Amino acid sequence: MPAGIVGLGSAVPERVLTNRDLERIVETSDEWIRTRTGIRERRVAAPGETTTQFGLAAARRALERARVEPEELDLIIVATSTPDTVFPATAVRLQAELGATRAAGFDLYAACSGFVYGVDQARHLVEAGAHRKVLVVGVDLLSRITDWSDRSTCVLFGDAAGAALVGPAPEGLGILASRLGADGRGGSHLYLESPYAHHGFWNVNGHPMGYTRMNGQEIFKFAVRLLADETQTLLQEIGAAPEDVDLFVPHQANIRIIDAAAERLGLRPDQVFTNLDRYGNTSTASIPLALDEAWQAGRLKPGSLVVSVGFGGGLTWGAMAFRW
Ligand code: ACO
Repeated sequence: MPAGIVGLGSAVPERVLTNRDLERIVETSDEWIRTRTGIRERRVAAPGETTTQFGLAAARRALERARVEPEELDLIIVATSTPDTVFPATAVRLQAELGATRAAGFDLYAACSGFVYGVDQARHLVEAGAHRKVLVVGVDLLSRITDWSDRSTCVLFGDAAGAALVGPAPEGLGILASRLGADGRGGSHLYLESPYAHHGFWNVNGHPMGYTRMNGQEIFKFAVRLLADETQTLLQEIGAAPEDVDLFVPHQANIRIIDAAAERLGLRPDQVFTNLDRYGNTSTASIPLALDEAWQAGRLKPGSLVVSVGFGGGLTWGAMAFRW
């Protein structure tokens, strides 16, 4: 049975942090950030706001739009690098908050590729007939793991949540292909050290949580190559060409990465969806947040061919093509 995304939802914090605000925090400028990244502002969670809370809001919207009750869910998968607690998993916290009494739940770590990893798993479970309704949530509060004194990273990131309900789709629609990949040799280019990995119990107390560290130029080169190559391979798999794509919704990391990949693929500007100017890079939330905005803006029409590609720490990547 084909599987597809049958409902989308998203949620972002109210608090806006503009490039001008950042000028007061680190030595940078609105002009530098806009021209090097395309980002104008991002959302940042207030103290006390939680990963679970934004994930829950996005999940509720996705369920409402799909007209699915929480009790109908079989499984909840949450992709996050910023869980409120390591255990219980965020997925299990959502299970309780939603009242998804029949659902199992687990979290997965695949950095910015996490949402596509989750949808790939959900797709195969639905196609195999093991589950009928799987909720996939991508949520990260990157502001909590950002070094706000490091201008090369702090201007890039934002907080958000996005959710997709994966369920049975009519023949010819739904997820046509999905591909996952990893190359751990590139791990040192983008990483977040765990606060407890290397430290004995005698010095855990007072040891600060790690911060995201990144080799921007290496990630840039990797991302452009990856976005173009994975899209090509995916399209070949489904017998389509770049001109057949109605909407290309890649991970929203940097407008220059997206533009360079779109140029390599020969995509027209109207085929590419971006919203990173308003949210920055929201990690695993970026693709579902962009898909939800595209849907709300009427850019996902019945039968539209959509391609989404995520990439990030690991290094990891995931690509999917679906007909809406
Ligand atoms: N404001 C002003 N100047 C800055 C800033 C800043 N915020 N950040 C860096 N600079 C300076 C550097 O110090 C450097 O100065 P120097 O020439 O005097 O040494 C100069 O700007 C150029 O720095 P580069 O690193 O070469 O700038 P680049 O054009 O490569 O842009 C950027 C940096 C935006 C980080 C880019 O490399 C990039 O986007 N990389 C990919 C990042 C990415 O996508 N990461 C996430 C993917 S996975 C995930 O989502 C977690």
